[in-house]
Amino acid sequence: MDENSMNEIEQLTQERPELAALARESLDAIEAAGTPAELEETRVRLLGKKGSIAAVFKGLGSLPPEEKRTLGQIGNALRTLAESELTARAARLKDAETKERLLREATDVTLPGRRLPQGHDHLLARVIDDVTDIFVSLGYKVVAGPEVELDFYNFEALNTPPHHPARSLQDTLYVRRSDPVSDDPKDILLRTHTSPVQVRVMESERPPLYVISPGKAYRKDEIDATHSPVFHQVEGFAVSEDITMGDLKGTLEVFARKLFGEERAVRFRPHFFPFTEPSAEVDVSCFVCAGGGCSLCKGVGWLEIMGCGMIDPAVFSHVGYDPEKYTGFAFGGGVERIAMLKYGVDDMRVFFENDMRFLRQF
Ligand code: PHE
Repeated sequence: MDENSMNEIEQLTQERPELAALARESLDAIEAAGTPAELEETRVRLLGKKGSIAAVFKGLGSLPPEEKRTLGQIGNALRTLAESELTARAARLKDAETKERLLREATDVTLPGRRLPQGHDHLLARVIDDVTDIFVSLGYKVVAGPEVELDFYNFEALNTPPHHPARSLQDTLYVRRSDPVSDDPKDILLRTHTSPVQVRVMESERPPLYVISPGKAYRKDEIDATHSPVFHQVEGFAVSEDITMGDLKGTLEVFARKLFGEERAVRFRPHFFPFTEPSAEVDVSCFVCAGGGCSLCKGVGWLEIMGCGMIDPAVFSHVGYDPEKYTGFAFGGGVERIAMLKYGVDDMRVFFENDMRFLRQF
């Protein structure tokens, strides 16, 4: 409070109580302003051209000199007082606002931090890793092969002759065909399985070989709950002297138990693949009902997980291995199918739709 101006006003207004009242009202109005906007309104009401303090100076000209002087002094003192009080009030309002904002924006450093969501491998990547790790622990090495492949590796060297149903345009996506009607080992295609890796490895290396090869494969399939034109397979094979079908079965049994549980059994059902002889489909005993029959195994008690067989001598002759000296087995299965069985997923499409609600479950 500007004491000097107030004292001056009190003395000067002894004869003019209405002006003393104006001084008090002005101070009250300034103090009552709660926001900068209200304070500005008050300033205009007091000091503006039509304001109540400005009004004191009106009509000063027609007064006698003595009165004119006194009234002029009062007006000036009122103006000085109002101005200094307005400035002080503005500073206090700003202070209060700053304090309030600091309080509102204060950081409580004792609160626990907010965790960022942590990502993780896609379920298919995890299944591929799990399967690969099992075979790596058995001494297999991981080899990748090209997805754009020559007919020679995908079919010809795998003992799949021209006009075999698996070669038909319906199944295979061709990148370049030299002749639209006949199959040519130089045709370029998207590999329809991971088995061409067998040929590529055998072509450049000598036995003993223990190889696991996960990767993508392509077929001209419509997308539905169990088909996708792009899918994943894991191929495995072993070539050495004296490898038997018993080794194959024992190996796949170890694999099935590590992936699906120690209680699992494995059975072979006779089948046909051009590049293995004999060939079999591999079933693992159902891990939900343990063979009794349930909805997962459709009452059968067994789940089909892959194809396998003893590498056909015709394949060995394509890569210059002596079929009299070497024997080997091979197996291959769909990663999506294994993942669906193991994690109870009933529609393959969810693997590729990237709906976070699905991905987060695993
Ligand atoms: N390549 C076969 C398929 O895609 C699976 C298989 C691999 C069968 C190795 C036998 C040996 O169905």
